[in-house]
Amino acid sequence: MQESDPIVTISQWIAKAERIIVFTGAGVSTESGIPDFRSPGGLWDRYDPDEFRFQRFLESEESRKKYWKMSTEFFALLTRVRPNPAHEACVELDRLEKLECVITQNVDNLHTEAGLDPGKVIEIHGNALQVGCLECDARHPRAEIQEWVDAGEEVPLCRKCGGLLKPRTISFGQGMPVDEMQRAEACMKRCDLFIVIGSSLVVYPAADMPIHAKANGVQLAIINMTPTPFDEHADLVIYGKAGEVMEDILRRVKQLLIH
Ligand code: APR
Repeated sequence: MQESDPIVTISQWIAKAERIIVFTGAGVSTESGIPDFRSPGGLWDRYDPDEFRFQRFLESEESRKKYWKMSTEFFALLTRVRPNPAHEACVELDRLEKLECVITQNVDNLHTEAGLDPGKVIEIHGNALQVGCLECDARHPRAEIQEWVDAGEEVPLCRKCGGLLKPRTISFGQGMPVDEMQRAEACMKRCDLFIVIGSSLVVYPAADMPIHAKANGVQLAIINMTPTPFDEHADLVIYGKAGEVMEDILRRVKQLLIH
């Protein structure tokens, strides 16, 4: 049941909690200037997500060219953006010794850039600042490979084995990263409050996580601009902008912890 003042309630929950999971989606980074996927004007308004399925990347040179073109635009944007108060709020939760981990669907690296201990950031959809070879698994910093692409290599290939290079992000149809999923599961067993921030909760298996947490008896809160399919299962829902809402919440939590 929705509380009358959910900001006050969630602040009290956070003040009491000891092992919070913050689960983030693209909505946590829109205030940094990165469009999300499914809002009007989002990435999937401009591109057809089917074009970027993993199988297509493997099978078609044309699709690989389109992928790298889209990804090049995205990377250029990433070099210009900075973390916002929502990312900073997660760092603050860690300083207050409240944070179990951040599980993020985002590949923009902004949680780490905000100063959060990388050991507490679980990137279940990968990270766009790294590139890997799909054959030999050689790893490269994105900036290095991007130089090749910018110099005209539309589909870069591994210098060691000739395999396809791809940013280490998870495409539709690609397997989830095993280590990250295991770490996320372990954290979910320990957490005492699960807060979703800025996700439409329509992409699986990521979207299963809040419901699993709830099924394990953990309190579930959702902070999002627009309704999600899980709002009715949540213990608390706040509609608003992640940065503004989280700043307000953290201010209240600190007051509660002082008194
Ligand atoms: N504050 C709070 N919520 C916001 C904000 C904001 N400033 N800006 C946008 N939102 C909300 C939108 O209303 C939307 O419900 O964030 C949500 C973002 O949803 P999506 O665009 O679907 O992003 P996400 O949930 O992260 O998508 C999951 O889909 O294509 C994939 O792999 C991609 O990881 C991504 C996955």
